[in-house]
Amino acid sequence: MYNITLIKGDGIGPEISDSVLEILKSAGLGINWDIQTAGADVIETEGVPLPQRVLDSVKKNKVALKSPVTTPIGKGFRSVNVQLRKELDLYANLRPCYNLPNVKTRYEDVDIVVVRENTEDLYAGIERQIDDDMAESIKRITRTASERIAKFAFDYAVKNNRKFVTVVTKANICKLSDGLFLESARTVSKNYDLPLKEILVDNCCMQLVQNPNQFDVLLLPNLYGDIVSDLCAGLIGGLGVAQGANIGSDYAVFEPVHGSAPDIAGQDKANPTAMLMSAIEMLSYIGETEAAKRIKSALFETLKDDIKTADLGGDKTCSEFTKAIIKRL
Ligand code: NAI
Repeated sequence: MYNITLIKGDGIGPEISDSVLEILKSAGLGINWDIQTAGADVIETEGVPLPQRVLDSVKKNKVALKSPVTTPIGKGFRSVNVQLRKELDLYANLRPCYNLPNVKTRYEDVDIVVVRENTEDLYAGIERQIDDDMAESIKRITRTASERIAKFAFDYAVKNNRKFVTVVTKANICKLSDGLFLESARTVSKNYDLPLKEILVDNCCMQLVQNPNQFDVLLLPNLYGDIVSDLCAGLIGGLGVAQGANIGSDYAVFEPVHGSAPDIAGQDKANPTAMLMSAIEMLSYIGETEAAKRIKSALFETLKDDIKTADLGGDKTCSEFTKAIIKRL
């Protein structure tokens, strides 16, 4: 029996969480879910969006599956996601992007892994209002964090038989901060037999939309990583199918790339695939590789049978899609 934290999130979070719980239960997995809530609703009752009990739960169980949580734009509380990554030192954001069967995209055979530094850069939230007409954000990059994420990318590449790592920066303009990230990648790469390639982020975006098949593992600082991983999600069929994981030395939180999709929340329209793919990755992580394979193949069979949610051009609701996967398990 595994103890795993489940953060149900808000918006479409509860719908896709329930879908995944049902599928995992049908696969016969003995998981004791420690269900936790976080976000705007929790502020009303507990005063903070990310209560200590959530952090304690992940610390105790070491592994969590998380649904999206809404973050107010411009004002209000700081992102629960950013806080969680910071508090648990989940320094690596891992986003494997590859085509799923029968999901129509502009490109075939995309197989890119985005490795994004998760703790610093403009995401550290070091901001100040100088006066009414001026605000600034600090882009802080450290050698320790940069070398740590570069090592993660290379270790991942070796373990997963990838061919090379491409470090993505804007080191021609941000000479010091991105320069340090690049220099750290170069230093770390010397310990591996795999080649390190280098590209500027603007060119990388252009190359990705022209010929994504030329890339293998991408290594990026936090902000570029955020943007480029959504771009890569677009290459494989959109946010509804893109999985993600936040991994640190001690804990791992698996979550879809997409947000809480308030525009379709509560309508049984959400695609649970990204959440399910994240859960499948989580099962591999805890050593349940056979179950992971079985669930993935049930998902792929469902898609091959042209059973899809609206975001993928289908007509199935989230619950119908879930039932179809369970039937194929
Ligand atoms: P979003 O990813 O929630 O939605 C963008 C578009 O994609 C919407 O049209 C939505 O309907 C669609 N979409 C997303 N996931 C889908 C799914 N599973 N099935 C079908 N359609 C799907 O991005 P948005 O609107 O920028 O953000 C909404 C909220 O989510 C914001 O408060 C944001 O801060 C938060 N967010 C949370 C994340 C997390 O908890 N890890 C990650 C990204 C955003």
